Amino acid sequence: MTAGRGTIIGTGSYLPERILTNRDLEQVVNTSDEWIKTRTGIRSRRIAGAGEVTSQMASRAAVEALAMAGVTAAQLDMIIVGTITAEMVMPSCACLVQKEIGAENAFAFDVSAACSGFVYALEIADRYLKNAPEMKILVIGAETLSARVDWQDRNTCVLFGDGAGACVLTGSTTEEGLLASQLYSDGRLWQLLSLDARPRRYCPAVDYGVAAAQNNMPEGAAFSMAGKDVFKHAVREMGDAVVNLLDREGVSLDDIDLVVPHQANIRILKSLAERLDLSFKKVYTTIQKYGNSSAASLPVALDEANREGRLQKGDLLLFSVFGGGFTWGVMLWRW
Ligand code: UT7
Repeated sequence: MTAGRGTIIGTGSYLPERILTNRDLEQVVNTSDEWIKTRTGIRSRRIAGAGEVTSQMASRAAVEALAMAGVTAAQLDMIIVGTITAEMVMPSCACLVQKEIGAENAFAFDVSAACSGFVYALEIADRYLKNAPEMKILVIGAETLSARVDWQDRNTCVLFGDGAGACVLTGSTTEEGLLASQLYSDGRLWQLLSLDARPRRYCPAVDYGVAAAQNNMPEGAAFSMAGKDVFKHAVREMGDAVVNLLDREGVSLDDIDLVVPHQANIRILKSLAERLDLSFKKVYTTIQKYGNSSAASLPVALDEANREGRLQKGDLLLFSVFGGGFTWGVMLWRW
């Protein structure tokens, strides 16, 4: 086969059953449904159940994506998981997924790029597929952010949720697949959004009420975020990245059928659409239901859009992400 590009042949997602609403959070911290809705767009989020860890959620999303792709776990050549909340530093979440789903022929590793982790992982998969289009690659974004949130800090605890999304990719020699992409990082700004390396082997039952009352979060173990700065950078960098990529590729925003972005804040997405002069109808959002699930947010949204029939063959899709590091990136896909 001639060199091609990576194309997505199956999507899947998994969301924990437990729903934490804004009203529930009113019982935990000094906040209100109104504040959360108007400042973030979030109405509820999913929270991992007792003992439910990142690799389990990742595996469940993977099984769905494999079923849609018609690929068996044994046929996989490679597994990449974008995550910042794996239950262990070693082995990787990807190795645990490999074991869980029985993908004994794959090699597996994690990518740490915060909310951009899934898109970074897709980029790596695409590079492999350019040289070896026959490969079958599983790319996952999965997070258990609830275990790393300080449930006494209203500035952060209202924002995050748990979940996992997955894609199966293979090589394409047609117009379909990843057309163009650009990734970015700026480590100088790391302090604006950070999380210490303290993985939790056993994710405790996340009883947010108890956690808040006991204040049992060790110093540095929870998210630290300069919200307003992150907001400004996200709108600016995501906007610039989209404009630069489309200019480079000679593609007009009018040609884009759907933007599937990282889901951090509905106001970030509205500001981005405004800056790009893009109808908000073309921006797919799940933030209302799931909050910000970091690397999982984009693949979960993609899977929902796919299963709802929002993605038609031949559509032009734009992925846009921004997260801690800072890391950000943009991808243009032909579905
Ligand atoms: O995935 C990437 C990672 N994160 C992000 O992208 C987050 C980016 N940032 C944001 O989404 C927004 O900055 C936030 C949603 C985090 C905050 O919204 P904001 O409009 O920037 O609010 P703020 O931080 O300026 O706070 C405004 C007020 C403050 O009170 P005072 O000082 O004006 O009296 C906060 O203490 O709102 C207060 N506040 C809250 N009130 C009720 C902050 N959090 C809450 C809360 N409930 N949960």
